[in-house]
Amino acid sequence: MKLPARVTICEVGTRDGFQIEPDFIPTEQKIEVVNLLSEAGIPRIEVTSFVHPKVVPQLRDAEQVMARIARRPGTRYAALVPNDKGAVRAVDAGVDAIHTVVSASESHNLANVNMTIAESMEKLRAVMQVAERARVPVSSGISTSFGCPFEGDVPLAQLESVVRRLTDMGARAVGLADTTGMANPRQVARTLEHLVPKFPGIEWTLHTHDTRAMAIPNILAAMEYGVANLDCSIGGLGGCPFAPGASGNVCSEDLVHCLAAMGIETGIDLDRLIAVLPGQIVKAGKSTRRYPVPDTVVGRVPAARA
Ligand code: COA
Ligand code: ZN
Repeated sequence: MKLPARVTICEVGTRDGFQIEPDFIPTEQKIEVVNLLSEAGIPRIEVTSFVHPKVVPQLRDAEQVMARIARRPGTRYAALVPNDKGAVRAVDAGVDAIHTVVSASESHNLANVNMTIAESMEKLRAVMQVAERARVPVSSGISTSFGCPFEGDVPLAQLESVVRRLTDMGARAVGLADTTGMANPRQVARTLEHLVPKFPGIEWTLHTHDTRAMAIPNILAAMEYGVANLDCSIGGLGGCPFAPGASGNVCSEDLVHCLAAMGIETGIDLDRLIAVLPGQIVKAGKSTRRYPVPDTVVGRVPAARA
């Protein structure tokens, strides 16, 4: 396999996860989770979103969370915004980076942000201007890149056109999001094989949901095409409130464990990450963990073959 030596992880659980929890998570708890994540050495955290508080009431405390987290040097604290109003709020709150959102399919974009793709593009152009004035980097995410829960297949040409419109307005970092876990590894490979050479110099991110247990295979496929920025979510939380069937992102501790086992550097302290919230790895322990040999087996193991 041709895999990068190092990847940059972006933890999105505090946004993608907390936005869909049925109960409002108290601000103090959100702050504590962000702090534990940065103490574990996570280089990028999508802390919250600056969206309409009536649309996503779970994240209505975005300003308070941003104001009170401990800012660890080495962690980039970002927030998701859908429009310039969100960008102004995010910049005023002191974010280090802005993550934007538009869908590759019209019906999901309307359901999610109440705009056509063309209307979103105008708002995102204004976001770019706000970010540029504040010297805050922007990463442009594209929801439903690999399929839409309303429309089904999203033609590659349609995805390419959304990428083109974003790069034409200055996007240098582009995220492809599999909002409802519809992608498969061959499709991810085909998509990147098509897009990567067409957009030289773009920093690509893959944002996966593990709805159908294909997130890590999809990530492997993307890494083979040089994608070295990966979104994931602590405890596998996550889901879009405006995409039926959406469930959690790829679980951060499972992904970081998988990368570490393959010798791919993330700079993250896995033990501290595992301690933040329970995920799959919590149950089994790391693959380097050794259990005592059962009494019935002691003394009966043949010597290892040379
Ligand atoms: N933050 C706070 N308020 C906002 C806002 C933002 N980012 N964007 C718009 N508003 C306010 C406007 O100021 C206006 O307020 P007013 O009625 O007091 O004048 C009101 O919302 C309506 O503005 P409009 O531009 O017509 O927004 P809308 O009602 O069409 O909603 C979005 C558009 C994008 C704000 C809304 O759909 C949204 O927040 N979506 C986010 C969805 C999401 O987070 N999905 C999950 C993550 S992918
Ligand atoms: Zn998501």
